[in-house]
Amino acid sequence: MPAPSPSPTVCSVAAGAASQAPIGIFDSGLGGLSVLRAVRAQLPDEALLYVADSLYAPYGERDDDFIADRTLAIGAWLAAQGAKALVVACNTATAQSIALVRDKLPIPLVGVEPGVKPAALQSKSRVAGVLATQATLRSARFQGLLERYAADCRFLCQPGHGLVQAVERCDVGSAELRALLRSYLEPMLDAGADTLVLGCTHYPFLDAAIRDIVGERLALIDTSVAIARQLERVLEQHGLRSATPAARPPLPRFYSTDDGVRQRQLAATLLQIEAAVEQVLISSPRTCAAARDSQVA
Ligand code: DGL
Repeated sequence: MPAPSPSPTVCSVAAGAASQAPIGIFDSGLGGLSVLRAVRAQLPDEALLYVADSLYAPYGERDDDFIADRTLAIGAWLAAQGAKALVVACNTATAQSIALVRDKLPIPLVGVEPGVKPAALQSKSRVAGVLATQATLRSARFQGLLERYAADCRFLCQPGHGLVQAVERCDVGSAELRALLRSYLEPMLDAGADTLVLGCTHYPFLDAAIRDIVGERLALIDTSVAIARQLERVLEQHGLRSATPAARPPLPRFYSTDDGVRQRQLAATLLQIEAAVEQVLISSPRTCAAARDSQVA
């Protein structure tokens, strides 16, 4: 998991006031809600702001510059809303732009990355599957993870084309989705894999469908709990833990760059969180240029 960066701006804010500020969590869409679920369980006193960039999801099939452009714009927007720390709850955005965003934002950051290390530690057959987006798999950051941890373990890397789109439609179990999952998972089983890295934060919402296909033959590696623990460490290092115990976790504030209907539905059905979703316009150089081009055309 990426190490926290020092944050001179945050250190200059009165610690007491800053610790009451919310934590910003962001994903290309709804997948980061799997991280939000773990953060709420680990840090129930913290106020959370969640942005889904659903208007521009999926990121996994976009170019690297576009992903960095959106990640920076949304991180800056959350910092401007008063977020005391940012969780980039998207493997694709972390892989493509965490270093850039860390440099430019004045708040501590936590990113996510596929659990290659825990998979290499626990696989007995020494064959593990990785499901992640195309952009994550091609990134230098992911290739670095393989170089570091895959020396004596074979990783079968499979782009999960279509899976993010399914979750964005709130489809976590249709016949088409199951057929798509089967086409990705059966070759892994045939090759002797005993472990599957869920390398995209959308995929934990598919765990029941995956279990129906693989049974207990694959151990599923989801890093959301590890991310929540890392966030707790980062907040503590910066003196930013909320000092006010809450009787129950406060409702997150949800924002979306689309109409938010699916976000509300997924949060209610899979997280049992009934909360309104506010539609927001977060412009960025690349999306402004696209809007200008479509006006000219
Ligand atoms: N949840 C994002 C991730 O972890 C999905 C990326 C996408 O939108 O393709 O990579």
